[in-house]
Amino acid sequence: MPDIESLLKETRVFKPAKEFSRQANWNKKTTAEYRKLGDKNPERFWAKMAKENVSWFAPWKKTLQWKPPFAKWFVGGKLNVSYNCLDRHIEGENAWRRNKAAIIWEGEPGDSRTLTYGELHREVCKFANVLKGLGVKKGERVALYMPMVPELAIAMLACTRIGAPHSIVFGGFSAEALRDRINDAGAKVVITSDGGFRRGAPFELKPAVDEACEGADCVDHVVVVKRTGEETAMKAGRDQWWHELMEGASANCKPARLDAEHPLFILYTSGTTGSPKGILHTTGGYLTHVTTTAKAIFDLKETDTYWCTADIGWITGHSYVVYGILANGATTFMYEGVPTHPGPDRFWEMIDRWKVTIFYTAPTAIRTFIRLGDEHPKRHDLSSLRLLGSVGEPINPEAWMWYHRVIGNKRCPIVDTWWQTETGGIMITPLPGAVDTKPGSGTLAFPGIHATILDEEGKEVAAPNGGLLAITRPWPGMLRGIWGDPKRYRETYWSKWKDIYFPSDGAHKDKSSYFWIMGRIDDVMNISGHRIGTMEVESAIVSHADVAEAAVVGRPDEITGTAIVAFVTPKSGVDAGSALADKVRKQVTREIGAIAKPKEIRFTDALPKTRSGKIMRRLLRDIAAGKEGIGDTSTLEDFSVLAKIRESDED
Ligand code: WT7
Repeated sequence: MPDIESLLKETRVFKPAKEFSRQANWNKKTTAEYRKLGDKNPERFWAKMAKENVSWFAPWKKTLQWKPPFAKWFVGGKLNVSYNCLDRHIEGENAWRRNKAAIIWEGEPGDSRTLTYGELHREVCKFANVLKGLGVKKGERVALYMPMVPELAIAMLACTRIGAPHSIVFGGFSAEALRDRINDAGAKVVITSDGGFRRGAPFELKPAVDEACEGADCVDHVVVVKRTGEETAMKAGRDQWWHELMEGASANCKPARLDAEHPLFILYTSGTTGSPKGILHTTGGYLTHVTTTAKAIFDLKETDTYWCTADIGWITGHSYVVYGILANGATTFMYEGVPTHPGPDRFWEMIDRWKVTIFYTAPTAIRTFIRLGDEHPKRHDLSSLRLLGSVGEPINPEAWMWYHRVIGNKRCPIVDTWWQTETGGIMITPLPGAVDTKPGSGTLAFPGIHATILDEEGKEVAAPNGGLLAITRPWPGMLRGIWGDPKRYRETYWSKWKDIYFPSDGAHKDKSSYFWIMGRIDDVMNISGHRIGTMEVESAIVSHADVAEAAVVGRPDEITGTAIVAFVTPKSGVDAGSALADKVRKQVTREIGAIAKPKEIRFTDALPKTRSGKIMRRLLRDIAAGKEGIGDTSTLEDFSVLAKIRESDED
């Protein structure tokens, strides 16, 4: 995690190029106007954005109803997300867009598909009818557990068309994790595929769905997309093939007229304690937020080919692979596989071949590319690129400079965008035609977003001191709650200060009031831009029969930002060693998924605890980061001496 000292030394400033500003959707002048309006009257600003960027079946009566911590935006307004992403681009004066590419998709083996707006509309209508045929009613939940294939976007949009909230579970999660999420949301239908391609080989998904459904009684139907063609078991009466259902489906399906606050989707994310939280987003505010930010921050133009490398299973994919991009009538590029197959230049080769103009990725990917060597991007013509974005974790200035120099050829503005699953859309970011950038800073809050730095007591922290990032006013894309748990919603986000949102990030501002985000301050780790709770990993580890106790901490990692280190006490009589480490890793993979697998496992005969019995996490973090010397390096490490020295400090 970068410290304030080192960040304060970063003094490089990059001004938007004149040529870029001149053509930008939001130039200096418009941005200044919007900022002024957003500062003074955020509701008026967002109402203006909602009118300009979103199509409504019926206007709202009240822009915001705020009964902290519960917000309703555009109260009484009626709309449909799939209408906004599809129908409005192929009707009336926009009818020409019918034959423009909405989704360009490339599979890892090199196969590709292009769906025009007209074709995507047709597929979405058909699948919406399939869902209806399976008995899915407005308000009923549909779980999606899929690889990056166009059918995932089709299924999402079909859900929104009929008002069935979707719950997408990232394909890297295990059957156990999937089952918990299906049950928590009470999903009636699961949509999946036989599998997908990764690292040059097919992988399976359907068996995990079968396992998850044992113990998920709410599921009536499973729809399976054929992607790999591998042998796949189908359960009679429950499972059906996507292509067979689609064959007979009608392509006529009127978009449901939904309330602005109708639930749009649930997306599970890790927290400090217990099980993952189902973050709830609704229709009108979310769509306004993502459509407006995509247009302003990515400067989306009719002629762009936009590529966000995130998996749709995460919020970035929801907001900026699908909804925010299609709502703008832009072309979104989707890729199925890993960046390094068949070679380390796969991404650059695709940018060159498809002439991608806007590229949005994560710092962990950038750091991986740096390590792979400049020769790979340099072999390809990247001159189609005109804007670069970064998301998911703090970007270190070195990685920013490399991105700027090697990928952007010093011509492309970089937007470092801070936001969260809970915020729905981007909150802190440069505007590429208007805001000077500094490597490593997210710069300023988006117009209409009110962000600041507070201390524990809620007092503003003066620059350049560090404190807690805070959002002081409600915003349209904000989460509306945690599915089925209003108490946890209140406690997690709204209990630190009165009526102020607490994102759990540390940050500071510099002299020009730019934000520098320093990362999570809770027991949540950010691994390659993905959020994993330490508690979740700990409970997965202790669920193994050979383990007595476990504590999990993050330590800085050059590529993934943070790496997971697990301190494990084996049960008496069980040998510590690589065989047990193997079992522990397998257990975590089974319970959560491979993304949560500890990079390092250290065995100890006792975890260091304070007198009151609390695990000394700070000490463990220091040990994991190599800041505390350990004398004894025998198989079972002994932290008791260090614990004694540190005790008063931790209590
Ligand atoms: C956490 C949210 C937002 C989509 C991806 C992650 C960290 C995110 C940045 C950034 C510094 C960032 C924060 C945040 N984060 N973007 N540009 N600079 N930190 O979504 O899984 O909900 O995680 O990611 O710590 O709280 P998420």
